[in-house]
Amino acid sequence: MRAKIYFVCTGLLLASSYVVADGPTTTKDDPVRSAELFKEATKTFRHPRCLNCHPAGSRPTQGDDMHPHVMNIVRGPKDHGAVALQCMACHGNANNENSGVPGAPKWAVAPKSMAWVGLNDRQLCEALKDKKKNHGMSPEKLIEHNGKDELVGWAWHPGAGRTPAPGTQEEFGKLVAEWVATGAHCPK
Ligand code: HEC
Ligand code: HEC
Repeated sequence: MRAKIYFVCTGLLLASSYVVADGPTTTKDDPVRSAELFKEATKTFRHPRCLNCHPAGSRPTQGDDMHPHVMNIVRGPKDHGAVALQCMACHGNANNENSGVPGAPKWAVAPKSMAWVGLNDRQLCEALKDKKKNHGMSPEKLIEHNGKDELVGWAWHPGAGRTPAPGTQEEFGKLVAEWVATGAHCPK
């Protein structure tokens, strides 16, 4: 089997993107490679477009500086906002180019069990794999969710004035798939 070649962090590429080579997915357990792939994926998991919806506290955050959401918006009892002021009152199914309010289907703040802010690489990796924290997602579901989910996908077309997540969602999906295929190992 031919080893796949990754071009990670080379000066030849735009600093903000990564490239995963095409071809059949390797299924060989490889703890070192796997942990490296996860580290590469943290560039996306830790991107402000993702973290703003995966906060540790009671409020979503905004902007590249991740300041608390304006207007005192809170996660509320079910992560969809306060009872009287739900996220969807302002956020539609798509970005609103006129008002600048971003949108995607099922807009909500990620549950506290999926809070990523403040976790180191290993903790983030373990949390993502933990079925008690990730709503019972198998590794295959995790690949699907990261590579195809529309709410996750918003991060790559976040609307005018916002920095998109690195690369494309498809590339990110492949990166996560490779991490799983090499054993879904976590960095030390
Ligand atoms: C608008 C808010 C929002 C944004 C932006 C967002 N997420 Fe999420 N995320 C959620 C919500 C809500 C859930 C819970 C979904 C569910 O359980 O059905 C979630 C769950 C997840 C999960 C499930 C597993 C777990 O343990 O956390 C993953 C993986 C995930 N998001 C990845 C991402 C990535 C990667 C990005 C950025 C590229 C991102 N999300 C951006 C709101 C968001
Ligand atoms: C009263 C209206 C309103 C409500 C309710 C609301 N938002 Fe927002 N939200 C906005 C506006 C306006 C912006 C754009 C602000 C800007 O870019 O200057 C925004 C931006 C955001 C962003 C973009 C952050 C980024 O990456 O820069 C996220 C994430 C977000 N809101 C999450 C939520 C979540 C989750 C809820 C529900 C818990 C929610 N919002 C409820 C009005 C609202």
